[in-house]
Amino acid sequence: MKDYVASWEALRRTDPEIAEAMVDELRRERTMLRLIASENYASPAVLAALASTMTNKYAEGYPGRRYYGGCEFVDVAESLAIERTKELFGADHANVQPHAGASANLAVYGAFLDPKRTDEKVLGLVLAHGGHLTHGSPVNVSGKWFNFVGYEVDKDTEVIDMDRVRDLAREHRPRIILAGFTAYPRAIDFAAFRQVADEVGALFMVDASHFIGLVAGGAYPSPVPYADVVTFTTHKTLRGPRGAIILCRAEHAKAIDRAVFPMMQGGPLENVIAAKAVALKEAMAPEFRDYAERTVRTARALAAALAEEGLRPVSGGTDSHLALVDLQPIGMTGADAERLCEGVDVALNKNAIPFDPLPPTTSSGIRVGTPAVATLGMDEPEMREIALAIAGVLRAPEDESARARARGRVRDLTERFPAYPDEG
Ligand SMILES: Cc1ncc(COP(=O)(O)O)c(C=O)c1O
Repeated sequence: MKDYVASWEALRRTDPEIAEAMVDELRRERTMLRLIASENYASPAVLAALASTMTNKYAEGYPGRRYYGGCEFVDVAESLAIERTKELFGADHANVQPHAGASANLAVYGAFLDPKRTDEKVLGLVLAHGGHLTHGSPVNVSGKWFNFVGYEVDKDTEVIDMDRVRDLAREHRPRIILAGFTAYPRAIDFAAFRQVADEVGALFMVDASHFIGLVAGGAYPSPVPYADVVTFTTHKTLRGPRGAIILCRAEHAKAIDRAVFPMMQGGPLENVIAAKAVALKEAMAPEFRDYAERTVRTARALAAALAEEGLRPVSGGTDSHLALVDLQPIGMTGADAERLCEGVDVALNKNAIPFDPLPPTTSSGIRVGTPAVATLGMDEPEMREIALAIAGVLRAPEDESARARARGRVRDLTERFPAYPDEG
């Protein structure tokens, strides 16, 4: 009997259409230069855990306290995921069950807010300045059911103005102050946020989804010593499976656990939790520190190289894995830039910049991130190549020879730094 039963041959026989789509996706991931800041390459070990028979197991509840029998082995995986998370981030408590970042954030709101009470507010960064959809956007349940007040970045510096955050906190007396964003390149002053939260008696929540892998590798400040609760996705800079984790102080452990299950979710995805445990083990290895540092170093180099080519990094640069780039100096929209880059095998996304005159569907900026290319081993010299490819097509959108040069650069990079090489 085999110890591991997922079978590529069986999949190809049973469902060739799905198998073909999967091969096409792998080919895309191998041939495109992936600069989408929220994406990465999960390791073969993480992928193997995802395809395990732990997907077969119902395990409502928590390790040692399940509603079903037969949980002894998924308990091993979930307990390891919990213990590794606590050790890696120095947290009192970890809940590793959230299916996604959106569900993790909703669980935190569910734990601490009553949607029927309009006096309970959350103070978060507005979407247009880098906040996430789940931070109070009117189209998301966070904005529909809960009462968000938005802060913005400063118009001149394009960084968070803590005086403004303090003024809004004093005015609105929020129940939760939320930091941690989706398109904000700079380091966040967690100590300053904590001070404001203490002054107004608010809980301090950090959504560390984007930069948590950098925290794991010591390349970005940790919010854990300052925050009451930290949520994060496991599939971005942390390089794990799609999913999320919530950390919190001991005093909030019960409220968080009850909010994840049974308030927001049913049975946990134990195969995904096993894959989270694998990714956490990888993130504890010394090589991951090199990875995290290289991710930030390459993002800085990419922002600087794009600036040399006449594109303007918002706030002047980055302290993290991503840069937000203003295309107004070259008179191009984010939507056009995204399309042109895709045409030369560079995947990035259009993104609103602070005080953007254009609607989000068009937008004046792009967001570029280095978590995926840093996983492939690229470093500063390669960022110059990438910047030349991007700027070449954006500055001369009608020029077929510029496009051919850019495609050639991308091909050269993806061949020199292959994704999932056979010996992997
Ligand atoms: C800051 C932040 N929070 C939450 C999420 C949502 O994560 P998910 O897509 O897993 O629901 C994202 C995803 O991009 C994010 O950037």
